Amino acid sequence: MSAQVLLVSPSFYSLFSLFSSLLAISQLLLLLPSAAHCAETLFEGGTVLSFDDVTESVKVLFNTSILVSGNQIVSIFPQSQNITLPPGTEIIPSQGKIISPGFIDTHRHLWQSAFRTLGSNTSLAEYFDRYSEFTQAQTVFTPDDVYYGQLIGIYESLNAGVTSILDHAHHTWSNATALAGLNASITSGARVWWCYAFHNLTNGYTREDQLADFEYISQYGPWRNSSTTTLGLAYDPLSLDPPSLVQTVVDVANTTIERTVANMNLVVNSPEIANSYGILNTSIPVVFSHGSYLTVQDAELLRSTNQYLSITPESEMHYGHGHASSQLIQDQAALGVDTHFTYSTDIVTQARIWLQSVRLIFYDQVRANWQIPRNNPMSVNQAFLLATRAGGLALRRPDIGVLVEGAKADLVVFDGAAPNLIGWVDPVAAVMLHSNVGNVQHVMVDGVFKKRDFNLTLGADYSEVQQQFLQSARRIQGIWEATPLPDLEGDYPFSSGVLYGQAVTADVIRGNGTGY
Ligand SMILES: *[C@@H]1O[C@H](CO)[C@@H](O)[C@H](O)[C@H]1NC(C)=O
Ligand SMILES: *[C@@H]1O[C@H](CO)[C@@H](O)[C@H](O)[C@H]1NC(C)=O
Ligand SMILES: *[C@@H]1O[C@H](CO)[C@@H](O)[C@H](O)[C@H]1NC(C)=O
Ligand SMILES: *[C@@H]1O[C@H](CO)[C@@H](O)[C@H](O)[C@H]1NC(C)=O
Ligand SMILES: *[C@@H]1O[C@H](CO)[C@@H](O)[C@H](O)[C@H]1NC(C)=O
Ligand SMILES: *[C@@H]1O[C@H](CO)[C@@H](O)[C@H](O)[C@H]1NC(C)=O
Ligand SMILES: *[C@@H]1O[C@H](CO)[C@@H](O)[C@H](O)[C@H]1NC(C)=O
Ligand SMILES: *[C@@H]1O[C@H](CO)[C@@H](O)[C@H](O)[C@H]1NC(C)=O
Ligand SMILES: *[C@@H]1O[C@H](CO)[C@@H](O)[C@H](O)[C@H]1NC(C)=O
Ligand SMILES: *[C@@H]1O[C@H](CO)[C@@H](O)[C@H](O)[C@H]1NC(C)=O
Ligand SMILES: *[C@@H]1O[C@H](CO)[C@@H](O)[C@H](O)[C@H]1NC(C)=O
Ligand SMILES: [Zn+2]
Repeated sequence: MSAQVLLVSPSFYSLFSLFSSLLAISQLLLLLPSAAHCAETLFEGGTVLSFDDVTESVKVLFNTSILVSGNQIVSIFPQSQNITLPPGTEIIPSQGKIISPGFIDTHRHLWQSAFRTLGSNTSLAEYFDRYSEFTQAQTVFTPDDVYYGQLIGIYESLNAGVTSILDHAHHTWSNATALAGLNASITSGARVWWCYAFHNLTNGYTREDQLADFEYISQYGPWRNSSTTTLGLAYDPLSLDPPSLVQTVVDVANTTIERTVANMNLVVNSPEIANSYGILNTSIPVVFSHGSYLTVQDAELLRSTNQYLSITPESEMHYGHGHASSQLIQDQAALGVDTHFTYSTDIVTQARIWLQSVRLIFYDQVRANWQIPRNNPMSVNQAFLLATRAGGLALRRPDIGVLVEGAKADLVVFDGAAPNLIGWVDPVAAVMLHSNVGNVQHVMVDGVFKKRDFNLTLGADYSEVQQQFLQSARRIQGIWEATPLPDLEGDYPFSSGVLYGQAVTADVIRGNGTGY
């Protein structure tokens, strides 16, 4: 739920183009002695889901090895090729494995882990009253609560092979809770775009306070030292705030931070409004979450300004805000999770839900015409690209979401011999339609193992984090369980003339049943 703006490291483009030209001679580099500080890892002889820049499509490379040096993929070559490895290269046998780029989540609120399973049948209106940033969370959540919730949320992602996350960080209720979520992001070693949310709170932490804190963090925050966490900003009330207040945020985006990504909310915000403030057609990457009310003009603006929509399929179904036309703008879209406490979180599952939804929508159009579809409207390769490269493009990071020479070493190794995968012929279909999180054997982010042989490798303190999180979660859950559900009657307060309505409730018991 929300909107965000986020920032990508300013020096990236120059570094990437420099590296691309260096990589043209990567075979030569292989023969050079490695720099002493760089760790080399060879994933030997796997099936690599690479990318062909010319045809812009998935390129499957069988019996292929990947050499990682530092945080980069420096070489991808046939296993049979006789090459000289840098001394000390660690070999990870990958025969029978499927090696995918790390998956990219372009919309998330990582702090909410403590609510896990509390919202199994919640609706969007109830969510705002009960679980959002605008609730008692502002006063109940301590910095430690935010820290452990955020960390567990990231661990869940890493475990599933989600290596990059755009975090719409609306736990910015004080300087301290903001810093705690940022710290957890950095500590995790996942690639996190931590996007500070600007919002009107009821706890006395004003917009001025938030701007001051953001500017302080942007200059002195610990993210500046991190190779994986990037700062951004998140801004939902774009169309609700008075223009002068919007302008302060636009100015901050434009001046304090060099590159930002905005992720606008479903009901009120739109690319058209963002464009009217001049923030769409710039070098700042802007990601809009949920295309529930996207217009054709919005879609055209996304294309002409090369900005992206984050489709969060399960969220949009769970809460009901929907994705009426998102299937028509998939060329400017990536995938996201949103509120991971309410449903499944891995991006492969999101891609699978989305793939089958799109198939049904396009099939329905043919059947509504009393015809029989002869073809399948969407391929697994397209869903795979949405889950990987499209996320990188949304963040204007062509070096993530692809396994190519020069890309960041963010990768996922699937155990292709698991009972649900063995016998695969098409590795993309295996991952997209048959895999599960339990098949994720290794996960590397920025050249560092985050999961190895099915175990998270987060340092010896994981059990400590588990305990701290559980303690925090149990306290919070007790408070929420004791809080009555909101009374959603009469007028919906955020749009004049709109009433609350009753959805039909499903009943799987014969007769009158029980309803729930
Ligand atoms: C990969 O190598 C295996 C064993 O070395 C071989 O059986 C298989 O045919 C190779 N696959 C391809 C596509 O070259
Ligand atoms: C690979 O190259 C090394 C030296 O570069 C050579 O000693 C070795 O015989 C070669 N192996 C094969 C299988 O060609
Ligand atoms: C959700 O389901 C629980 C029972 O599992 C029920 O107590 C609660 O009232 C339901 N909430 C809503 C909003 O329907
Ligand atoms: C976050 O990290 C900074 C700098 O390392 C430290 O001063 C601060 O106490 C940390 N805050 C939290 C809540 O962990
Ligand atoms: C929050 O941080 C800002 C920027 O450093 C500072 O001006 C302000 O005093 C801080 N607020 C509190 C309550 O510490
Ligand atoms: C940056 O990293 C260095 C070395 O790891 C550390 O000594 C320093 O305290 C860090 N600075 C900040 C602001 O986190
Ligand atoms: C937020 O608060 C400001 C005053 O600080 C007010 O001008 C603005 O209308 C409020 N925005 C929303 C969306 O309520
Ligand atoms: C950003 O700043 C530049 C330089 O000050 C200015 O030319 C440009 O209009 C600003 N863009 C926005 C969207 O405010
Ligand atoms: C975006 O800016 C370019 C020039 O920088 C201009 O050609 C194009 O028309 C602009 N597009 C929109 C939608 O404003
Ligand atoms: C993975 O964790 C389990 C349980 O903690 C442990 O028994 C096993 O040895 C670990 N495996 C590896 C490869 O570290
Ligand atoms: C279902 O409910 C209606 C009215 O609430 C009642 O008249 C009817 O007897 C019920 N039927 C069954 C099968 O319980
Ligand atoms: Zn959201």
